[in-house]
Amino acid sequence: MVKTEVIKITGPGFKMAGAAQVIKDGGLVAFPTETVYGLGANALDPGAVAGIFRAKGRPSDNPLIVHISDIDQVDELSDDVTVPARRLMEAFWPGPLTLVLHKKPHIPDAITAGLDTVAVRMPDHPAALELIRTAGVPVAAPSANSSGKPSPTTARHVLEDLDGKIEMILDGGACRVGLESTVMDMTAEPPVILRPGGVTREEIESVIGHVETAFWQGTVPRSPGMKYRHYSPRAEVIVVAGDDYERIYEKTAVLLRKYRSLNKKTGILASAETARGYPAEEVFTVGSRSSLETVAQNLFYGLRFLDLQGVDIIIAEGYPETGIGTAIMNRLKKAAGNNVIQA
Ligand code: TXA
Ligand code: MG
Repeated sequence: MVKTEVIKITGPGFKMAGAAQVIKDGGLVAFPTETVYGLGANALDPGAVAGIFRAKGRPSDNPLIVHISDIDQVDELSDDVTVPARRLMEAFWPGPLTLVLHKKPHIPDAITAGLDTVAVRMPDHPAALELIRTAGVPVAAPSANSSGKPSPTTARHVLEDLDGKIEMILDGGACRVGLESTVMDMTAEPPVILRPGGVTREEIESVIGHVETAFWQGTVPRSPGMKYRHYSPRAEVIVVAGDDYERIYEKTAVLLRKYRSLNKKTGILASAETARGYPAEEVFTVGSRSSLETVAQNLFYGLRFLDLQGVDIIIAEGYPETGIGTAIMNRLKKAAGNNVIQA
């Protein structure tokens, strides 16, 4: 057990020296990014990186993203940055896009799980950038949850999972995007989206043209993280998918009646359009269907909230799989272990 210090980020004048020192000394600091909270360690220190895997209970064959504070730092990590990769960095960094590149030899195997590639991202959050800059090293950071749980979007979520296991949590309030970065394999031709996220396929294709996706298929995923059950609350999750929200509503209401008749305490992750129609024990409203960004922002928060209410079942309404909706549905389906019902 270590004592986990929670420190509020007070504003632009906030002194990052203490947190940066923890990173330099080989410790672990959870910090806010625009996507979700990350659990940071010195990416060039194998002992510190091993601490990340221990704290999260993360399988060692799942590689980590290396975070940088300046585009030029990418050249310390890879000597094979392609033209399309440069164009994506210029268009979307700092921001919720992770690029998988050929790695330089000095990057510890613990980071890359022995792969010859490294995932790199420059987060769009002033505290994250200041922490990396002040630490003076690239910062390895997975999402700061226990492995398998929904990613944390507040400092409280991090504390729920990692209290006593990490040195420090920087509290910068709720995350803006609410789900993780898009992960793209830039070593493939054409490049492949391995995990849908904060930057959409449509946005990426507007910069570099056609890309492939590989996040649903396969028993041997190219992004090792995608093979695990993920984003899962304690409760059983069911997703009601479809194109028409009135039918989603009707199907959800039918399921709700069924589980209530079985004496299951049921929570609903609903949109603003339908939330008031459900007589469930717990209804969490993620946002309006006309603002999928808001739905994304509140998604993990809602899963964790319903779990804390002690529900047995969470029925989650589905969303159209375009734009950020692709990432929303990816996370919901994974939380549900593919328990998806078509409305
Ligand atoms: O938004 C985010 O990306 C957050 C914040 C903290 O930056 N981080 C995050 O890290 O989501 P994590 O570890 O929870 O997810 C990283 C994903 C995993 O699916 C992992 O398998 C994949 O990126 N990944 C990492 N390195 C890779 C590599 N060299 N090749 C393929 N996939 C890789
Ligand atoms: Mg994660």
